Amino acid sequence: MTSIRFARPFAFIAIPFCLLALSCTSEDKSKEDTWSYHRADAASSNYAPIDQINTSNVDNLENAWTFEIKDMPKDARPGLSQCTPIIVDGTLYTVSAKGWLYALDAKTGEQIWSFDPFDGGEGGGTVRGVSYWESGDDNRIIFGSGDRLLAVDAQTGKLVGEFGDNGAVDLKIGLRDDPKDLFIALTTPGIVYQDLIIVGGRLQDLYGSPPGYIRAYDCRTGELVWTFHTIPLPGEPGYETWPKEAYKTAGGVNNWAGMSLDPERDMVFISLGSPSYDFYGADRLGENLYGNCVLALKASTGEYVWHYQTVHHDLWDYDLPAPPNLVTLNRDGKTIDAVAQITKQGFVFVLDRETGESLFPVEEQKVPPSYMPKEKAWPTQPFPQKPDPYSRQTFIEEDLANYGKESHDSLLKKFRSLRYEGMFTPPDLKGTFMFPGTRGGAQWGGAAFDKETSTLFIRSMDAAELITIVEEKTDVGENASLIEQGAALYGSYCASCHGPEKKGSDVYPSLVDIGSRLPKEVINDKIRNGVGMMPGYASIFDEAQQEAILAYLLELEEGSSAIANNTKTDNSSEETRYLNTTGYTTWMDSEGRPAVKPPWGALNALNLSTGEYEWQIPLGNYEELQEKGAPPTGQEGKSGPVVTAGGLIFISGSEDKQLRAIDKTTGKTLWQTTLPAMANATACTYEVDGKQFVAISVGGTEENPSGSVMAFALPKS
Ligand code: HEC
Repeated sequence: MTSIRFARPFAFIAIPFCLLALSCTSEDKSKEDTWSYHRADAASSNYAPIDQINTSNVDNLENAWTFEIKDMPKDARPGLSQCTPIIVDGTLYTVSAKGWLYALDAKTGEQIWSFDPFDGGEGGGTVRGVSYWESGDDNRIIFGSGDRLLAVDAQTGKLVGEFGDNGAVDLKIGLRDDPKDLFIALTTPGIVYQDLIIVGGRLQDLYGSPPGYIRAYDCRTGELVWTFHTIPLPGEPGYETWPKEAYKTAGGVNNWAGMSLDPERDMVFISLGSPSYDFYGADRLGENLYGNCVLALKASTGEYVWHYQTVHHDLWDYDLPAPPNLVTLNRDGKTIDAVAQITKQGFVFVLDRETGESLFPVEEQKVPPSYMPKEKAWPTQPFPQKPDPYSRQTFIEEDLANYGKESHDSLLKKFRSLRYEGMFTPPDLKGTFMFPGTRGGAQWGGAAFDKETSTLFIRSMDAAELITIVEEKTDVGENASLIEQGAALYGSYCASCHGPEKKGSDVYPSLVDIGSRLPKEVINDKIRNGVGMMPGYASIFDEAQQEAILAYLLELEEGSSAIANNTKTDNSSEETRYLNTTGYTTWMDSEGRPAVKPPWGALNALNLSTGEYEWQIPLGNYEELQEKGAPPTGQEGKSGPVVTAGGLIFISGSEDKQLRAIDKTTGKTLWQTTLPAMANATACTYEVDGKQFVAISVGGTEENPSGSVMAFALPKS
């Protein structure tokens, strides 16, 4: 087997990651340095120990190759892949916006093979990366395609027959609830430990979601090896933090953000999301372990080791948004192995890797009570006293953006009508101001950890949100027409993203006249199973409701047929349920400008040994909104940074379409290029045959909606 080798400029980083032969599936140690994991390595460092491209020559960087993907119809809406490629033995593996898997020559960008998981079908769905496993000559790419875990032969691009059912494992099986009514999608890849692939998955954030159990499958056979109940069953630790019967109905507490692995310790570290429903928890009173926890398990067996909860009884969708970084820091001359978890709230929790204890003081502080019927907000929340938050967490009227009198008056009027008592103000029937919003803070791109300086680089956003709580309204009366019933469902479940008039906004497509653009079956499928960033509604709607929503979208005039009063998850207690109709979107003024003053996006360099920031810079710019002489506005962005031994950070992912190279010691931008479209993906960097490349998935354009993979390198030297 050939392998990629590079000159390692610093002796101290050449220490093999896996010291015990036992803990490696491969004898080839260099694998650890070739970006063969989703986040560069098992520690999710987003760090590459290579320095051919460095601070002194990066301004010469040029486009080395571009692979134009061609898997979508010419007239399709441009796709936006979120995939970070992995590179093994000179081959780059990536997934397109349509969801096809590609193997490319990492040096030239030429296609080796492609694999269509949908067998000619519509495709779609978010895939942020893939995993690699090998044993002898048998090497496989294991990745998620919607609700299936697939194993593809890395050499041939064909499904591996002996894995699961002809190459596929059905992730819907084993999540407590009836698989046929269930939505799960593996967006972030699992992590490989020896011959196990450990996975989580994305779920709906609504009532009726299944629990997000963590599962490990055999990489050879696809057999289920262990399951960890993230919502504990009777007798399991943490069960007491829920109502007695909740384990039968509560959902969420899933890992959609990825995980990290310490093979020497046989430990896997998992970032968990909130319990569902996100914004109302009267049916799940209590602290709700392991919701919003960093969870450490024994990787080989799934046994519990420790947990650390970052939000108690979450009512804000403050899911842990990124895998924890396994880091090493220095204290009083001592080296400490730790876990650093970034959050949507803007906090970094720095935990001892062995025990889960915080390495900086954390205070449980009193937070405001809930006034929602039957709700009980948890009285305190954890506030790390160090490091300082990287995003703004407080807000006063003066922080409202001022684009002119009319806009400002209307923002001020709205703000004054809302409940706001600082971070962790619970959702309220009068509306709540939320800052940071569900977008964070930090997002799925995660943080990059520079092993040389113990610095954590974090992309952050200052994105405020409104929580608008309404009573769930699916009972529109027996005589309502199908369209009226559908309209009610639309208002409750779809309007928050697609807008009250179906017009969409931002990344949410318009659904006006959708029937003329897509066949009914395709629309039906997208609603049931989700598409791209939209989660599926299979676990929410029964058949009649699905019919009603279609009737509303397609404006089908048909006779009325009474549908069930409530969504299919039998709401037998007949308790009133509430929904947030403005969740998941940044609060904007009527012209679509952010409602809070800039900066809206930043990059932060945090020294983990001292807990102090080295620098913080706005990232991205809206020139038209930048005030004269003011710093750049910063832009929202979800993809993450990559840091290298060459002293550089590579980052993209904002609307300005820039790929930037930033000096890691100063925060100064040394090089940037305008990509053909936005790249909503974290880059990767690797060396093959002595040449370093930086590669990134780029979104589709009018000419080519499928998008591309672009690689940059220095000119021939
Ligand atoms: C959390 C935000 C969100 C919610 C809630 C949501 N959607 Fe979507 N929806 C999206 C996004 C984002 C896309 C585009 C996905 C892509 O193609 O990448 C989309 C796409 C669609 C499409 C395909 C449109 C096209 O042009 O391809 C349909 C149809 C649709 N949504 C219907 C619905 C319905 C019906 C509901 C409510 C039951 C709903 N959506 C709720 C975010 C959302």
